Amino acid sequence: MAFPATRMRRLRRSDALRALVRETTLEPGDLIYPLFLCSGEGVRREIGSMPGVFNLSIDEAVREAAAAASLGLGGLLLFGLPETKDEHGTGAWEKNGIVQQGLRALKASSAAKKLVLIADVCLCEYTSHGHCGVVVKDPDEGDSGAFEVNNDLSLKLLVRTAVSLANAGADVIAPSDMMDGRVAAIRKALDRDGHAQTPILSYASKFASAFYGPFREAADSAPQFGDRRSYQMDSANLREALREIDLDLQEGADMILMKPAMPYLDVVRAARERYGVPIGAYQVSGEYSMLHAAFQKGWLDRDRAMLESLLGIRRAGADFLITYFAKDAAKLLA
Ligand code: PBG
Repeated sequence: MAFPATRMRRLRRSDALRALVRETTLEPGDLIYPLFLCSGEGVRREIGSMPGVFNLSIDEAVREAAAAASLGLGGLLLFGLPETKDEHGTGAWEKNGIVQQGLRALKASSAAKKLVLIADVCLCEYTSHGHCGVVVKDPDEGDSGAFEVNNDLSLKLLVRTAVSLANAGADVIAPSDMMDGRVAAIRKALDRDGHAQTPILSYASKFASAFYGPFREAADSAPQFGDRRSYQMDSANLREALREIDLDLQEGADMILMKPAMPYLDVVRAARERYGVPIGAYQVSGEYSMLHAAFQKGWLDRDRAMLESLLGIRRAGADFLITYFAKDAAKLLA
């Protein structure tokens, strides 16, 4: 039946009607808020390219967690800025690493009961060279010469990092390094060390993206030479993303993460249609920063554009969203 029997506008006539036929929901509990932990006390250092996002000392992070819990957020994703870096990213896996300390403090706080504490597993914030794994260089060529991020050597350190974070209290382990075989290696080690019940959220399809730029300022993790294209995925590839997801699920991932979100909604949709597992999408730093730049210029309506960007990612098929807007969005949704 076509017009005039059919009039699509009939169901758009009031707030109540629109609410009744709304297909996609957005709730504070769907949102995960990233935190960047640093040493010190009372530190709240704003990140230049990410207005409203801070490097936080652990005491401040505990305060932030209480705010997140009272807003009803789903969880926190923890990153760390170590005091010192070295070639092997020692700060990622040592017992008193910054995120390990943060996890112990957060676990002891009352907010922890309401929030899922997710630990990002990667080496780039902790290595002096800023790569996500172990760099093997051609000794004759120096830093500007040929190098390789060695997959299998990196696995050992990523496994150590994952176990150490689980020991410190992480509820979920989230490897973001994009080395082959890391999910299986981490699963095996977690099981062996008494963490058989700790789920893995794998950044299964993570693209080599320009949209991580502001994060690298926030986490001080820009590669000192070369780039990440030998381990993160080429932006052009959807079929390869699905293979990455297949493999991570075979290796034992409990949930998968798509990243970035807005420029890759087709990947989220394809994954949704193909897999029954919980799917998360990460609205990354550059997505946040570009929207903020437009808010500051008065070019976009902040509240509406923020919620629309998040709803779009949910509509594409993501169950939960990692977003720097988590707190602001939850306030609007309350
Ligand atoms: C670590 C990691 C990155 C992000 C999350 N985990 C940076 C990168 O791969 O360079 C990016 C998150 C963001 O941009 O918000 N490997």
